[in-house]
Amino acid sequence: MNIVLMGPPGAGKGTQAEVMARKLFVPHISTGDIFRANIKAGTELGQLANQYISKGDLVPDEVTMGMIKDRLAEEDCANGFILDGLPRTIVQADALAAVLEEQGKKLDKVVNIDVPIEKLIERLSGRRVCRNCSQTYHLQNNPPTEAGRCDECGGELYQRADDSEETIKNRLDVYLAQSSPLIEYYEAKGLLLSIDGDQSINNVLADVGRGLGQNW
Ligand code: AP5
Ligand code: MG
Ligand code: ZN
Repeated sequence: MNIVLMGPPGAGKGTQAEVMARKLFVPHISTGDIFRANIKAGTELGQLANQYISKGDLVPDEVTMGMIKDRLAEEDCANGFILDGLPRTIVQADALAAVLEEQGKKLDKVVNIDVPIEKLIERLSGRRVCRNCSQTYHLQNNPPTEAGRCDECGGELYQRADDSEETIKNRLDVYLAQSSPLIEYYEAKGLLLSIDGDQSINNVLADVGRGLGQNW
């Protein structure tokens, strides 16, 4: 199954995609995670992307699309993928359709996780991420067993640099201006599955499963 997972910053895309990928046996491809891995490794792509990410702005479309085109061509995407965080602009959505057509693929569903803006700030400011395996926690909603340590691998938990209050505000503005029009875009194509993301992590997952015709 070829799936796009959309939603505002902090909606729970990464949290849901992790579990969905395991259940569907397809890779979870997060553009944000790929950029952060490149920043950590100090690559040229990482240095360029960091200029935008640190402010909460979007990395230019051509940079992002070049990166994702290569990723989708990898063998592990042959039986499907969950694309988390792309497209974020109409230009990217059109480019994605062209890339997929070139590869003889098409999207099956676009899952949009809907969460009221005022809840997102609380979700983002309480988020902690494992430095080692990227597992995501929340200080109140989904705390690790041992404070500051990842349950999965024992790695150190940290706060993302773009989860500061000022950068969160810009990310939300950017989302509303540049990414939210994609909801109508995919609705018009008959691909949109809207999910109420303002419920527990497990209930969101159950709704996504039902919407995708999965028995989980
Ligand atoms: P990216 O890393 O994708 O950030 P984002 O879209 O802002 O989304 P987040 O990862 O912050 O949130 P999420 O929806 O994954 O939520 P999570 O599951 O962690 O992108 C970062 C940056 O990279 C962008 O700003 C941009 O600069 C650049 N970029 C990326 N893609 C790009 C593109 N296509 N084009 C150009 N630039 C691009 O959950 C959040 C918190 O809430 C966690 O603490 C979690 O535990 C908690 N939580 C999750 N679900 C629930 C729930 N149901 N109830 C309560 N708490 C919950
Ligand atoms: Mg994420
Ligand atoms: Zn970990």
